[in-house]
Amino acid sequence: MPIKIAPSILSADFGAFAEAVEELTAASADYIHIDVMDGHFVPNITFGAQLVRALRPVTSVPFDTHLMIERPEQYVAEFAKAGSNLVTIHPETTFHLNRLLHQIQDAGAKAGVALNPATPISAIEWVLGDLDRILVMTVNPGFGGQAFLPEMLQKIRSLAELRAAHGLRFEIGVDGGVNSDTAPLVARAGADTLIAGSAVFHHPEGLADAVAELRRLATDAAPPAAPRNGGR
Ligand code: DX5
Ligand code: ZN
Repeated sequence: MPIKIAPSILSADFGAFAEAVEELTAASADYIHIDVMDGHFVPNITFGAQLVRALRPVTSVPFDTHLMIERPEQYVAEFAKAGSNLVTIHPETTFHLNRLLHQIQDAGAKAGVALNPATPISAIEWVLGDLDRILVMTVNPGFGGQAFLPEMLQKIRSLAELRAAHGLRFEIGVDGGVNSDTAPLVARAGADTLIAGSAVFHHPEGLADAVAELRRLATDAAPPAAPRNGGR
């Protein structure tokens, strides 16, 4: 199975989001990653559900919305309704994680949890079966273009082991500092989806080459698919 690539429009020209989404669609992106920041949970402010709604008619590529906001329970249904196919929240932003994940799914989207570099897997131990995606943050959230934190490779490996040991279904995404050097490392550790902002938008050969290169490097490095039915 090829590794999926989810370019983040955080690195796009903020005056030309629709054009960026058209280009990413032509580049066969698997998801479009939309980083929503509120200036409270993270220092930066980006955009809200209005942008998701405005971009929805531009593409049929799934929108992977990453909410770095406080009080996400007030907004998740709106993001789902606006056209987010997957809504990812941070466990630190809510008192009632189980309820919030079901709120997302009841609104018709898939539900993900993002783990900050310092947040342990144990924070989500009791909701593992409810999750469609776990997003391993390999930078501290808030900005694009930061350096990859290599200690997080062990977190990715631990999640891949947990998933296999318990027959769980969540997808493992990796977000932050993913480029042609780090993509093979995270894929080898067990990631399924790579989020990439600067490595896609600042690639000298353009978006399509960037997406294809990351997918190829990661897929070549990924472990073989787990054997089914006794390995035959
Ligand atoms: C960081 C965001 C990331 C960001 C990644 O807070 O969640 O999705 O866009 O950017 P790069 O790939 O440049 O590290
Ligand atoms: Zn993100």
